[in-house]
Amino acid sequence: MSETTTSSTIRWEQDDTGIVTLVLDDPNQSANTMNQAFRDSIAAVAQRAEAEQDSIRGIVFTSAKKTFFGGGDLKDMIRIGPENAQQAFDAGMSIKHALRRIETLGKPVVAAINGAALGGGYEIALACHHRIALDAPGSKIGLPEVTLGLLPAGGGVTRTVRLLGIADALLKVLLQGTQYSPQRALENGLVHDVAATQDEMLAKARAFIDANPESQQPWDVKGYKIPGGTPSNPRFAANLPAFPANLKKQTAGAPYPAPRNILAAAVEGSQVDFETAQTIEARYFTELVTGRIAKNMIQAFFFDLQAVNSGANRPQGIEPRPVRKVAVLGAGMMGAGIAYSCARAGIDVVLKDVTAEAAQKGKEYSEKLLAKALSRGRTTEAKRDALLARITPTADPADLAGCDAVIEAVFEDTTLKHKVFQEIQDIVEPDALLCSNTSTLPITALAEGVTRPVDFIGLHFFSPVDKMPLVEIIKGERTGDEALARAFDLVRQINKTPIVVNDSRGFFTSRVIGQFINEGVAMIGEGADPVSVEQAAAQAGYPAKVLSLMDELTLTLPRKIRNETRRAVEEAGGTWAGHPADAVIDRMVDEFGRPGRSGGAGFYEYDGEGKRAGLWPGLREHFAKPDVEIPFEDMKERMLFSEALDTVRCLEENVLTSVADANIGSIMGIGFPAWTGGVLQYINGYEGGLPGFVARARELAAAYGERFEPPALLVHKAERGERFSDEGQTL
Ligand code: NAI
Repeated sequence: MSETTTSSTIRWEQDDTGIVTLVLDDPNQSANTMNQAFRDSIAAVAQRAEAEQDSIRGIVFTSAKKTFFGGGDLKDMIRIGPENAQQAFDAGMSIKHALRRIETLGKPVVAAINGAALGGGYEIALACHHRIALDAPGSKIGLPEVTLGLLPAGGGVTRTVRLLGIADALLKVLLQGTQYSPQRALENGLVHDVAATQDEMLAKARAFIDANPESQQPWDVKGYKIPGGTPSNPRFAANLPAFPANLKKQTAGAPYPAPRNILAAAVEGSQVDFETAQTIEARYFTELVTGRIAKNMIQAFFFDLQAVNSGANRPQGIEPRPVRKVAVLGAGMMGAGIAYSCARAGIDVVLKDVTAEAAQKGKEYSEKLLAKALSRGRTTEAKRDALLARITPTADPADLAGCDAVIEAVFEDTTLKHKVFQEIQDIVEPDALLCSNTSTLPITALAEGVTRPVDFIGLHFFSPVDKMPLVEIIKGERTGDEALARAFDLVRQINKTPIVVNDSRGFFTSRVIGQFINEGVAMIGEGADPVSVEQAAAQAGYPAKVLSLMDELTLTLPRKIRNETRRAVEEAGGTWAGHPADAVIDRMVDEFGRPGRSGGAGFYEYDGEGKRAGLWPGLREHFAKPDVEIPFEDMKERMLFSEALDTVRCLEENVLTSVADANIGSIMGIGFPAWTGGVLQYINGYEGGLPGFVARARELAAAYGERFEPPALLVHKAERGERFSDEGQTL
């Protein structure tokens, strides 16, 4: 075997039979990503392969890293502005050309995908004639660019359209950015074969080369037709209207340019030759990468998420101690979901409720989820049985012996929560971590009910627990660093994303989402058309419309919280300002008997099964004023600004201590629109930057009320030319 280095990041290993293995191995990084060195290397490899083609029988791409190849270099991408558009376009074209040269060499090219191949990694694989994936645990394959506001521009759109047809390429790969396990990638046509071991994978690669000495891509065979046809085919054209509808559903009119550009690149690219399609793809990519929204999304879903998950907020120097056995107190909606999530992560769960029946019912929730997963091929019977065997339902506190963590999820009542902790604190391990899933009660006060407040902490899950990725960790006044580190580790252990906040009423998430809801409801009080209010929320990019969300949470809950808060504020000698939404909520509940969905009537009508049956006509009759017309842009911005401004107040009050936590918590916990990059990135990216945001907040304050007055912290940062960032700046 001869081994020479053609380039800095790809090793060229040629054996005696003429098979060249191209080993992707960036010496300067732990994982391979598409940077300038790789672009140069792929071009160098293409050139050498052409020059030495007489001695080459076939090519195998594989990697020396744990993963095959990651996506683009996001540190680079986030810096590309409109002024670098040409450069971005050219860089994209150069990689496309290099891959194309290898693809059309006339020799068989195989991707031996030894680990995750996402984005650029899967695009390299797509340029190969045969794709074999190693069935490694956790390995993922797909083109998730859309989730960062981008499109796959290494030929990803052009090739998936030719491989799968426009419909499947869009729906299965491009528009959702789905990441497939090797097995599911095989079922969906993304790879040709799966291997159980590295040796088997490489043997299969060789076998393909032996059997296909003159391999070429299906789309380079004369007369090739894109599966399912192209828009000039009348049958395809008949289906085309489904795409914009699907897109609309995905983005609800909110400013997400990536799905739109992907659709355009796919459809336009399908009607032209391969080279032209690649140019079209590059143009649509350049538009995205130089724009604002991709930057917002890269900041949030890559950098902020990484900072949050890697423990920027975890106290250092505390040895991790994985939880082995957790006590979940209360087997209601939240407890049942928490039990499932813990058991799924391999933790033994004792699920306790008042009666054995109630506890058993909580376990049945896991059974239902698993039955569904099994029917969809997402789990196996063996895995299901193992998970269920880890959950022990009980009504007997003695069964909690040996638990090293407790998560309480009984009714929202301080006295009851104190009681259940007292009942179990001497039974569980003497140093067990003590967590409460309260959504509104101050942690410091709850901690007064236990003998070890230093080990007591808030662990606020979101509903439905099995789907929602976020957990808000709340530090009480007496919570110790050790408890915080252990809570952080527990959240990571169950594969969720932790943000850390200091104790305060409503913490960060419940408090800030309350602003959004109040703002929508206040507009009803001003006489706005309720349909427009709902449309404004959707077009701002909120996943749930504001009045429907209020109905889900029930109108009585915020009233209860408001009354408690008012009492607390007044007892502390403060004055209670209230919110214009209060009067609307009071009338809805007291005058019209409409407390929300669970009560069968709210801002919406409901059918017998609790399904929404249109907005309540009484809203028009009792609240709407025909002469009132709030500008649509104002409606959207009132919702977005109300949350952004309150988040700045959370920073001022030290409820929040990190920008990344605010951004991630707002998107993953409370549905702040993802296109913004999160609630503080929204301010950073606002037209005119922080000064522009401040000016607009003042306009809104003059028109709609003092609550839009920009807080001092925001004004100061705007004056100093700063932005919200965790790096090198104190808040
Ligand atoms: P739920 O009403 O569905 O369940 C509460 C469960 O606690 C019931 O099964 C009840 O039998 C049980 N329980 C009552 N006393 C008990 C005791 N002494 N020992 C053991 N179990 C006892 O309530 P849900 O919605 O699950 O909420 C639970 C907690 O989670 C509350 O503190 C709530 O504020 C919080 N939370 C709720 C969210 C939601 O969306 N529902 C979201 C985040 C937090």
